[in-house]
Amino acid sequence: MLQRTLVLLKPDCVQRRLIGQIISRFENKGLNIVAMKMLRVTPELARQHYAEHVDKPFYRSLEDFITSAPIVAMAIEGLDAIRVVRDMLGATNGLNAAAGTIRGDYSSSRQMNLVHASDGPESAVRELQLYFSANEFCDYDPLLTPAMRAADEA
Ligand code: CMP
Repeated sequence: MLQRTLVLLKPDCVQRRLIGQIISRFENKGLNIVAMKMLRVTPELARQHYAEHVDKPFYRSLEDFITSAPIVAMAIEGLDAIRVVRDMLGATNGLNAAAGTIRGDYSSSRQMNLVHASDGPESAVRELQLYFSANEFCDYDPLLTPAMRAADEA
């Protein structure tokens, strides 16, 4: 199923100048970036985004981190993109993430785990709306699709 998911390249990704390398992973996989912007997360946006964590003991530290430097927000589209992107990220804690995943290859931290991605269809819809308005999505037909999968795989 064709899906869209929200991906955030977090402050550690920006500060470590890994934006290009991480975006390349998604492009190389055959996923399409259909919206992208750099922004500074405000405390209010952090509370909305991480609503399920606001009452947890680590929330203050999480908010301080996510607001500490700019992030890059992307809408990424592809077949089963929500699961595929989460699989590419690996386990939340970089210390536990499998080698070959983004966190497994670049992170040794639970908080500074480089990338966020929506964990299901409902959170994808909710989170995409938090970061993008409808007119910021750029629909296009990727010319490389016929070279990357058979027509009946859609
Ligand atoms: P993310 O995928 O962005 O979703 C919530 C974030 O909270 C998670 O990545 C981690 O960065 C952070 N997080 C989750 N669990 C903990 C924890 N126990 N202590 C500190 N940070 C956590």
